Amino acid sequence: MRTGKHKTVYFDNAASSWPKPERVYRAMDACMRNAGGNPGRSGHRLSLQAARIIFETRESLAELFGVADSSRIILTSNATESLNLAIKGILKTGDHVITTGFEHNSVMRPLRFLEKESKLSLSCIGPSHKEPLDLPLLEKAITAKTKLIVSMHGSNVSGDIFPIAQIAGIAKRHGIVFLVDASQTAGSLPIDLTKLGVDLCAFTGHKALLGPQGTGGLYIREGIVLRALKQGGTGSRSESEEHPEFLPDKYESGTPNTVGIAGLGAGVKYILSTGVRNIGEKKAWLRAYLIKKLQDIDGMRIYGNPASAGLAVVSFTVPEVNSSTIARNLSDKYSIMTRPGLHCAPLAHRTIRTFPEGTLRISLGIFNTTREINYFIRCLKNTIKQAE
Ligand SMILES: Cc1ncc(COP(=O)(O)O)c(C=O)c1O
Repeated sequence: MRTGKHKTVYFDNAASSWPKPERVYRAMDACMRNAGGNPGRSGHRLSLQAARIIFETRESLAELFGVADSSRIILTSNATESLNLAIKGILKTGDHVITTGFEHNSVMRPLRFLEKESKLSLSCIGPSHKEPLDLPLLEKAITAKTKLIVSMHGSNVSGDIFPIAQIAGIAKRHGIVFLVDASQTAGSLPIDLTKLGVDLCAFTGHKALLGPQGTGGLYIREGIVLRALKQGGTGSRSESEEHPEFLPDKYESGTPNTVGIAGLGAGVKYILSTGVRNIGEKKAWLRAYLIKKLQDIDGMRIYGNPASAGLAVVSFTVPEVNSSTIARNLSDKYSIMTRPGLHCAPLAHRTIRTFPEGTLRISLGIFNTTREINYFIRCLKNTIKQAE
């Protein structure tokens, strides 16, 4: 896409991926035109077609996440809804929760909300000198009241990857429920929820899963029962005024976002056919290329651990130049889309000591190229020079 004299360079995939694979646009258009009935409600052809689209998307997500029973994947409107359902659905007055020092506000705000209502106590575990999470400290923080551990899988600020397999092991040993926020990793890294032994996993549809905004989901392991956030029509058990107890209906009520779910299904199918490992490798390669180029710039400070494996999410600061000024200049003058500031994760910025100014974040997607990175580096150098 071209705006003004420059081709648009989109480096904000951690906020929302763009562009989407062609098949995502096509699936949404076809759904709107050919499957316009209300899924699971009416029983006519268009209603059945809509229901089939939703079933197929659920099956594709289950395949991607190594889940045998796709009814354990609850479709929601985003990761925020999934996290609220998991957190508010499992916790009771007096429970203790352990989380990391990097969580997004969609984890921290529901937790702080419950804490304020004096329903829970909270421990936030920071990094060790080498890793984004001090695992021994996390285990030490466990008390008899600890009900839930919440950890992100990948940071939307530093790109750090969290040791969810080890945390799952600790949670299992102590009989604690483990919730993963896979918003930044679903579609970028292989995730086998059954092998990992994760109890709950929230994900969003519009980032690396390549679906549209307004889609997401929550995996709920068999044996975990949550209090639902809402009750209503499901198209099932219509004779009863009691909400059904079976999945996915227990946690899904009201007419769903079928068009969005069609797009999400197409995005996940694209990932399954390309291979999540291949996608992860391409992004890792682009990340390494970007970091190497950034490291050549005088005074550049890159956060996270550039030497270890990480997501293609790179945050940096340049001395004396505000990240918002750089981002505005990159967008207005060169048509390069980046994200400055706190990235809805003030806790993470406190942890890496970039609060309140924040950082400039570059987040790469599968359709980005080294040519775009070279162009960005030239424009960034010009911007810094002009600001000095
Ligand atoms: C780590 C993390 N968790 C949760 C979210 C929330 O996702 P959504 O806005 O789709 O609910 C985001 C979005 O930026 C994120 O990066």
